Amino acid sequence: MSIAYLNGVWQPAEEARVSVLDRGFLFGDGVYEVIPVFNGRVFAEDRHLARMARSLGQTGIKPPMPNDCWKHLFAEGIRRVGEASAVLYVQITRGVSRVRSHNYQNEEPTVLVLASGWPEYEQRPHDVVTMEDFRWSRADIKATSLVASGMIRNGAIADGYDDAILIRDGKVTEASASNVFIALDGMIVTPPASRYLLHGITRAVVIELAAAHGLPLQEREITHAELMAANEVWLTSTTHEVWPVASIDRCKVGSGEPGPLTNQVNSLYQAYKRSQTASSVM
Ligand SMILES: Cc1ncc(COP(=O)(O)O)c(C=O)c1O
Repeated sequence: MSIAYLNGVWQPAEEARVSVLDRGFLFGDGVYEVIPVFNGRVFAEDRHLARMARSLGQTGIKPPMPNDCWKHLFAEGIRRVGEASAVLYVQITRGVSRVRSHNYQNEEPTVLVLASGWPEYEQRPHDVVTMEDFRWSRADIKATSLVASGMIRNGAIADGYDDAILIRDGKVTEASASNVFIALDGMIVTPPASRYLLHGITRAVVIELAAAHGLPLQEREITHAELMAANEVWLTSTTHEVWPVASIDRCKVGSGEPGPLTNQVNSLYQAYKRSQTASSVM
């Protein structure tokens, strides 16, 4: 069951409607966040709000409300959905135009919060293919225009893979909806945060946890050859968390099973998540 908050009104998601003149509909002109809720508490709320503010700033969409109002709205969504584990999908479009035009018309943003129970996301190791990153060069903005990502993910699936790891100018950027980490000769490596990849919240948490627990980690470019030679590869995202890759381009990564660093990082992430969403944490 999903509950929608649309421009001030809570309603069943299937009943929520927007105008065909909404720039989100006509141009994919909007930004979004996917925010997890565990134990009835929003995980990494301030980080998601900060990234959303950045996406709004970069696209020049008016910020619809201050952070304390967002937090209140999220709490209300959690209350209405009535499940301890939930996911909040937040989308802000530039709003409804008077006429279809590339020119902005001082629209008022359209605000959608979809609150749903946490779906069981698949965690099995994934078989991925490498593919040219043909998306736009502002992948750091969490924009709703995801046609390229859909083509990439579904192209990979049509060819018998689970997902694709993207390569731009010979270097790994990210996967279709997650960030990439490799372990190579005991060193964890992930591509640096740039305009070519989303600055994932899970990525940032993993980097901080590695530093706090003395795991060697570098943020630097990864070549296609290094990716193929890696002992371990994992993906990170809010919904799949720390997620092992079994094979790349039909070649096994290590033994094909999650490796020791993948398991260690996953344990650290799970423990951190529990600590941040325990009942005593406000
Ligand atoms: C392209 C892309 N990269 C990375 C991520 C991971 O980001 P996060 O950890 O904030 O969920 C996502 C999440 O949806 C994504 O779409």
